Amino acid sequence: MFTDLLAMQDLSSQELIEVLNLADQLKYEKKNGIPHPHLAGKTLGMIFQKSSTRTRVSFETGMYQLGGTALFLSSNDLQIGRGEPIEDTARVLDRYLDGIMIRTYAQSDVEKLARYCNIPIINGLTDYCHPCQVLADLMTIREHKGKLEGLKMCYIGDGNNMANSLIVGGLLAGMSVSVATPGAYKPHQQVLDFASGKDFLMTEDRFEATKDADVVFTDVWASMGMEGEAEQRRRDFAGWIVDGKLMSYTKKDAMVQHCLPAHRGEEIAADVFEAHAAEIFDEAENRLHAQKAVMVKLMA
Ligand code: CP
Ligand code: NVA
Repeated sequence: MFTDLLAMQDLSSQELIEVLNLADQLKYEKKNGIPHPHLAGKTLGMIFQKSSTRTRVSFETGMYQLGGTALFLSSNDLQIGRGEPIEDTARVLDRYLDGIMIRTYAQSDVEKLARYCNIPIINGLTDYCHPCQVLADLMTIREHKGKLEGLKMCYIGDGNNMANSLIVGGLLAGMSVSVATPGAYKPHQQVLDFASGKDFLMTEDRFEATKDADVVFTDVWASMGMEGEAEQRRRDFAGWIVDGKLMSYTKKDAMVQHCLPAHRGEEIAADVFEAHAAEIFDEAENRLHAQKAVMVKLMA
């Protein structure tokens, strides 16, 4: 049984499906007014070293719906921002809280937090991965397509945190995963090693990756913290847009998913975004349900 969610690799295929099943159940209960106070009396600390709309609001309201409380802890206000080591912060927060969600830069900081805490740690995004997002994505695909196994997922764009988690999540779910990135922007080597020998294609040809796909994913060209490289990246990614032409290579009923925020006219064309807006905002909603399932699994 997983005791933290630091990366998608923490989950087995079976645990992944169990989380998705619980997420479906919690969504049903929420929609039907059935209370589910699994975390009554518990407190989640939410450490943010980067901006957030979805992650912050969905964790906070999710914790409230589960009967618990969430504390928003901006790194500007914590002593971490003034140099208090993670090791000490961890051993203090461990005495007060029942779980921590952290959004930061280095994956090693999240791992260090987990090493020094006994309470569960949930990764709310690092430069390396974004597992909570990918749980919501898989939940959304299963809702729309009725299954995951055997479907073809493709990811087009930067080999970033989203790409890393999607590759692992898709493969754990039994999907066929194809990724196209411009040469220098490949996913993390650890993830490529995980994917090696599985139903995985890595290419620089975005049309090949998209061919007969059931689900198309993309994400921003410059992630949080990469603002200084944005101009260079705009040049390197020129033409790497999910538009009508690229979508003509997919299956006819293909879905489009985007973790948001989206940059229309860069990684995704406005008309493709709007044509798939219902699926994309279902995906955003499912952050709430999927993360509630993670919190119940780890903290109840
Ligand atoms: N997709 C996502 O994580 O959104 P936020 O950055 O708004 O949390
Ligand atoms: N890759 C993006 C995802 C935002 C949710 C980033 O890290 O900024």
